[in-house]
Amino acid sequence: MGCDVAGFDDRVPPVGQVGRASGGSHVIQAGGDVTIHGPLSAEPGPLPPGLGRVPVTSGVFVGREDELARLAAWADRTAVVVHGPAGVGKSALVARFAELHADRFAPVWWVTADSPDALDAGLAELALALAPHVTGTHRVETSLRWLAAHDDWLLVLDDVTDPDHVARRLARTRTGTVVITSRRHDWPDLRAVAVGALPRHDVVELLRRHVLRAWPEADLTGSRALCAALGWQPRAVVQAAAHLAQHHLAPRVHLARLERFPGWTPATSSDAVPRLVADFDASLDHEVRCRIIWELAKTGTTAAKEALRSLRPRYDIEQLAINEALEF
Ligand SMILES: Nc1ncnc2c1ncn2[C@@H]1O[C@H](COP(=O)(O)OP(=O)(O)O)[C@@H](O)[C@H]1O
Ligand SMILES: [Mg+2]
Repeated sequence: MGCDVAGFDDRVPPVGQVGRASGGSHVIQAGGDVTIHGPLSAEPGPLPPGLGRVPVTSGVFVGREDELARLAAWADRTAVVVHGPAGVGKSALVARFAELHADRFAPVWWVTADSPDALDAGLAELALALAPHVTGTHRVETSLRWLAAHDDWLLVLDDVTDPDHVARRLARTRTGTVVITSRRHDWPDLRAVAVGALPRHDVVELLRRHVLRAWPEADLTGSRALCAALGWQPRAVVQAAAHLAQHHLAPRVHLARLERFPGWTPATSSDAVPRLVADFDASLDHEVRCRIIWELAKTGTTAAKEALRSLRPRYDIEQLAINEALEF
C-alpha cells in the first residue's frame, strides 16, 4: 500500500533533511535554518525484541465494531486521525485497535501528544528504547531517522492539539502507520474516523462490566437510569462504576443521590473525609457544621458514614442532621 501522509506533505515543507557535513557531523536543515550538530553518537541497532509501549487499559471494551473495522482497513502505512469530543472514547478505541492488531506492527509506540513538548518527549523516549546510548539532544532526531528507515511501526499520537507541530515532526516519516487522536476535526488531508456518542446499550454494558469485574455479585438494578443521568458519557460512567464497586452501592442508590444533589460527583480524593471532619471540629457556626454533615452524606462512602457517627454535635439541630444524613 502506498505511503500517504498527505496532510503532512502538503502543508509543511519537509524539515530535518539530514545530510553529512565535513568532519562527520550531521547537518539538520529545519526550514531555512541550518543547524550543525555534532556527530550523532550512534545509530540504533536492530529493534529490541518485544519493544513497544501501549497504555494500560482496564480490560473492558465494548462496541465500536465499525470504527475498529475502519481503522483496521485504513491504518496501514499511512496516517489516520480519530477525532471526537473529550471523554467519548477515542483513546480507548485506539488502544483496543493496537491490542487487536499487535502482530501487524513492530513496535507499537504510544505517545501522549497534547503539546509539542509532550510529542518530542515521547519521540525521545522511543530513541531511548531503541538506542539507550544516544544522548538527550539527539534523541528526537534519532527516532525520526529510525522511523523513516522502517515501515512496520505504529505510532499513536494521543490527544494532539497542535497539528502543525505533528506535521513538521513527521514530514520525513512516511513509511509506517500513524494514528492520531484529537478533539480537533480540522484534518482535511487525512482519513478520519469520527467517534460519536457510544450507543446507549453499550454504555449500559460498560457500566455493568466495570462493576461486575470488581464486585461480581452486584445488584445492577437502575443501571440504565443511572447511565441516562450521567448523560451517557463513558468517562462519567466508568467513574461511577468504580464508585459503585468500591462502596457496594446499587446503581439506583447512586442515582437517588444524583437526583437529590444534581451535579454531584463522588469524592475522588481520599482525603475529603478527614478534611471535612477537621472543618467540622474547627467551625463554631452550626450552619456551616450542618452543611459539612451534608457534604459527608453526599460523599456516600463507608469512611464518610463512620465519620458521621463519630461527630460530636454541639446543637440538637446538628444531631438531627447527622441522623438524617446517616439514613441518606
Ligand atoms: N468502547 C469503550 N469500551 C470500554 N471503555 C470505554 C469505551 N469508550 C470509552 N471508554 C472508557 O471511557 C473513558 C473515557 O474514554 P477515553 O478513551 O479516555 O476518551 P477520549 O480519549 O475520547 O477523551 C475511559 O475510561 C475509557 O476506558
Ligand atoms: Mg483520550
